[in-house]
Amino acid sequence: MQSALQHASHHFPDYVQELIDLLKIQSISTDSAYAGEVRRCAVWMADHMKAIGINKVEVMDTPGHPIVYGEHLVDPSKPTVLVYGHYDVQPPDPLDLWESDPFEPIIKEDGRIVARGSSDDKGQVFIHLKAIEAYLKTDGVPPLNLKFIIEGEEESGSVNLTPFIEKHKELLKADVVVISDTSMFARGVPSITYGLRGLAYVEVKLTGPDRDLHSGMYGGGIHNPLNALAKMIAGLHDEDHQVTIEGFYDNVLDLTQEERDTFAALPFNPAEWAASVGVDVTKTEGEYTAYEGTSARPTLDVNGIWGGYQGEGAKTVLPSYAGAKISMRLVPNQQPDEITAKIKAYFEANVPPTMKLEFKDLHGGKGAIVDTKHPAMQAAAKALEDTYGKKPFFTREGGSIPVVAEFKEILGIDTVLMGFGLDEDAIHSPNESFGQDRFREGILSAIRFLSHYAETPA
Ligand code: BES
Ligand code: MN
Ligand code: MN
Repeated sequence: MQSALQHASHHFPDYVQELIDLLKIQSISTDSAYAGEVRRCAVWMADHMKAIGINKVEVMDTPGHPIVYGEHLVDPSKPTVLVYGHYDVQPPDPLDLWESDPFEPIIKEDGRIVARGSSDDKGQVFIHLKAIEAYLKTDGVPPLNLKFIIEGEEESGSVNLTPFIEKHKELLKADVVVISDTSMFARGVPSITYGLRGLAYVEVKLTGPDRDLHSGMYGGGIHNPLNALAKMIAGLHDEDHQVTIEGFYDNVLDLTQEERDTFAALPFNPAEWAASVGVDVTKTEGEYTAYEGTSARPTLDVNGIWGGYQGEGAKTVLPSYAGAKISMRLVPNQQPDEITAKIKAYFEANVPPTMKLEFKDLHGGKGAIVDTKHPAMQAAAKALEDTYGKKPFFTREGGSIPVVAEFKEILGIDTVLMGFGLDEDAIHSPNESFGQDRFREGILSAIRFLSHYAETPA
């Protein structure tokens, strides 16, 4: 391990250059215009994995974007770690808010690498490739067996991933999954994420008159779809900011008192956190804190709403239709399909007789929770402590990586979420970046994790 650590430190500048090359590929999975770039990215990844000495590497086709699979098996008596990550990225929009080209990476004075996908997730996947490379170039072998599954559809809902996992159970067999695609608590404050939220995403449309109408001639006699939709949406929360949908909280895994105490002791200041996004005061469900609200409670948010006139100035119009996109972050034990059925029932029950309702289920995914006592969690904790000189916090996060629940359900394996992102990385936003400090700390931690986990008795 020592020589791998030294090798990685010595070659770190090369790793940064390679990451920059990877970040130039416009692997936007949601937009079919970029399908060629997505494939080019998969091939780049696979070629890179072969070049660093990973034994078996394959670009595997799916009905959508390809999955890059790799394996380097050294000793059947040693545990196997499956590294998951995604090489696809979010669209860069809105482009005019970027200070530099999203796919022409630049290095800021403070060392941050600015580019779409730098933190989510190319930079973080690269951590694991560089960790195995450091072993291969020094000891010649990693301390345990490694497999890699790097997908190209995470940002568009991973629609082909579950069937792929089901079809390749034997190939993907492993003792634990490790993912770097989450955040750490703060700079220099390592953490391991043991809980993630799930997601149910729907779209609704109310249609009234068959065309936009003059609001003076028709207003007062024809029901306005935007007014009606606004009322239905307003009814989705009560005074306590609880979701009113019948049965919404039915299977919610409650926070334990121990978790609430642990979270309360975290160095998290809600006022500062709100100020960091230009807001004066937080808004939470009932008695829950903002930390609890954003990590371990289910929520409902309107993502966008449209209809009528949106241009400059006034246009007196009574819109023909109104639409909205609504996402619900779920917690463990809530089933996305059930939640989707429940919100559908809410809209169906409340649609006024003056309107027609259309409802679309866009996508969903389950939340996850991992036992912090799992040997691989403990190995990760030790690795982070070695790197940062302090014990990591165990945290829950509000984002979603639905494959974590699928790995557990289909393959029966737990996932260690060892992430190195920070809020300042602005993932999914303009000017996404990843600090070289965290890229380096991540590589060193990943090297240490493999060695520590290899030593845990089977
Ligand atoms: N890496 C994120 C998830 C994430 C970010 C988890 C920060 C924890 C902290 C992932 O790429 C992502 O964006 N997931 C989507 C869900 C997906 C189903 C589209 C999300 O959370 O919105
Ligand atoms: Mn991600
Ligand atoms: Mn993402």
